[in-house]
Amino acid sequence: MDRFYITTPIYYVNDKPHIGHAYTTILADVLARYHRLLGVPVHFLTGTDEHGQKVWEAARKAGVSPQEQCDRMVVRFQRLWERLGITHDDFIRTTEPRHTEVVQEILADLHERGEIYRDEYEGWYSVSEERFYTEKELVDGRSPEGKPVEKIRESNWFFRMSRHQQWLVDWIESHPEFIQPEQRRNETLGFLRQPLGDLCISRPKARMPWGIELPFDRDYVCYVWFDALVNYISAIGYRRDEETFRRWWPADMHLIGKDILTTHTVYWPTMLHAMGLEPPRTIFAHGWWLSGGAKMSKSEGNVTDPMEMADRHGVDALRYYLMADMTLGQDAVFTEEAFALRYNADLANDLGNLASRVLRLVERHCDGRVPAPDDAGSGAAEAALREAVAGAVVEMEQRLQAMQLDRGLAAVIGAVRETNRYVDQCAPWSLARSGETARLGTVLYHALEALRIVSGLLHPVMPGRMAELRRALGLAEDEVEPHLDRLRTWGGLEAGRPAAAPPSLFPRIDRRRTAAAGAARGTAKPAGAAKKGGKPAAGTISFRDFSRFVLRTARVLEAARVEGADRLLRLVVDLGDERRQLVAGIAAAYAPEDLVGRTIVVVANLEPATIRGVRSEGMLLAAQHGDTLSVITVAGDVPPGTPVS
Ligand code: ME8
Ligand code: MG
Repeated sequence: MDRFYITTPIYYVNDKPHIGHAYTTILADVLARYHRLLGVPVHFLTGTDEHGQKVWEAARKAGVSPQEQCDRMVVRFQRLWERLGITHDDFIRTTEPRHTEVVQEILADLHERGEIYRDEYEGWYSVSEERFYTEKELVDGRSPEGKPVEKIRESNWFFRMSRHQQWLVDWIESHPEFIQPEQRRNETLGFLRQPLGDLCISRPKARMPWGIELPFDRDYVCYVWFDALVNYISAIGYRRDEETFRRWWPADMHLIGKDILTTHTVYWPTMLHAMGLEPPRTIFAHGWWLSGGAKMSKSEGNVTDPMEMADRHGVDALRYYLMADMTLGQDAVFTEEAFALRYNADLANDLGNLASRVLRLVERHCDGRVPAPDDAGSGAAEAALREAVAGAVVEMEQRLQAMQLDRGLAAVIGAVRETNRYVDQCAPWSLARSGETARLGTVLYHALEALRIVSGLLHPVMPGRMAELRRALGLAEDEVEPHLDRLRTWGGLEAGRPAAAPPSLFPRIDRRRTAAAGAARGTAKPAGAAKKGGKPAAGTISFRDFSRFVLRTARVLEAARVEGADRLLRLVVDLGDERRQLVAGIAAAYAPEDLVGRTIVVVANLEPATIRGVRSEGMLLAAQHGDTLSVITVAGDVPPGTPVS
């Protein structure tokens, strides 16, 4: 790879940032840092989306001008990114002239070339989503996302998006890496099976004046998405600095949440095509952080403040939790309990404990200097340790390529556990007592080397704490930021360099303070005990395991038999904010029409599977007694998507 241009969505400034915004930005930062570690030139862009109805209304509510609203809120984002250690190269605001002027030039150009035309329009408008829906797209008088809509009739300007539909389908089909993960690619292709309409790209100023004025019609401002998406090219000098633009475009990765898939995988590439530009190489849509069973969002009012989390538990712990607890592409559940468990297990017990006991032994028995390994005394245990650590380096690299960061981190923590086991097995404290100095040096050197390599692999995720640890290991200043080639080779630590125990890297979170769930899991165990004691008693699961199930109500929209499989039914269900297809082995007990209209309970975060050639994106709950099978249904008027707990 010759260079890596990565972007985050630009966030609306109608409110302060929450964990969801912090997540995407931290993920982009981690990917940027890993590419720098590989020696690849990186350009990392983030910013804010400052026009449109949402911001305008927030300003009205706050009793300030829209620009004032933006200026006040943008610092909340900028301060948070600073606090979270985000290393973006650029921060774009869509109210900056470097952006607005380029948007106007693009509009004028597309207008001149007949890609934009005027027409009368009538449709259903969702204020919160800032988009129109047609009559038949509505579900029970609301948008498919369940948001209220209002009927609006007006004259507007349109982008001839439909012209580019066939090109887009061909592009997606011939570029498997373009939309990831696969599920989102299929979703976009499914969407494109219907004829694509043209896109309304104007808003009459009389209704909503906060936007970029259309250069060919002063009565209108530009639709916020047609303005916002352009940030990815205006920021790197499109129409201004040809050389910089050519250096970075097409972007290597637009990182987004699945909520903004269509705008990025349909509107944006067709816009680029109309401008004569190549689409980005990859658009990667991650899942949602859920809270109380619903997407964490400002409108749901179930948000967690990342600034507060960072203050309470440290920036690195927050970054680690967010990266380790979400499987990219799937939804994940954010809870304080899961945070504390993950932190105590991986960071306090495994990594923190390893670092502090090894470095303390070095302080005490090696005069606080990296000991020299005795090659003659190096045996099978050392070879096994080296292999485990080298395996983690390789696996992390592969998992990153595959966008499976959580698995990569699990491999690194696995190597940390191996190292703890190695130290337990070699018992350096007894070697010290019995005066076996050469062997003691070998064992401590190996443990320190393992720490050097794992701290390098974890540095992009926890830059603060890992820098501290790497200094404590005696690494020179220019090695504190790791380079991959040095993590691939064993023996990077120089004997004789000063090494000292850092102050506690990851003090345990006292879970006795975290309510009943903690109590149910038994009293706090001493550090280190989790290696053996981390598993719950036979036959039970931990609260944490249970909290990972996302159970939600779903309304059955369609049901049909699966050809060639007489036990299976294929269901299409409404999960409130999305539709899913499920395959269930219930055909013997139910005729398809028995189920349509019923509200059932679905495991919503199950990894999708293909059953007899049919994709299944979840599992329904049913009770089975002998041959009798009964699908669990929900009584009363419960809307689809309601959390079940
Ligand atoms: O949509 N879980 O901005 P926005 C995970 N301005 N990620 C989440 C999340 C959650 N619960 N909630 C938000 C906009 N996000 C437009 C984008 S881009 C040209 C314009 C993250 O402030 C996720 O990345 O609503 C999501 O796509 C983004 O914040 C939406 O931020
Ligand atoms: Mg949003």
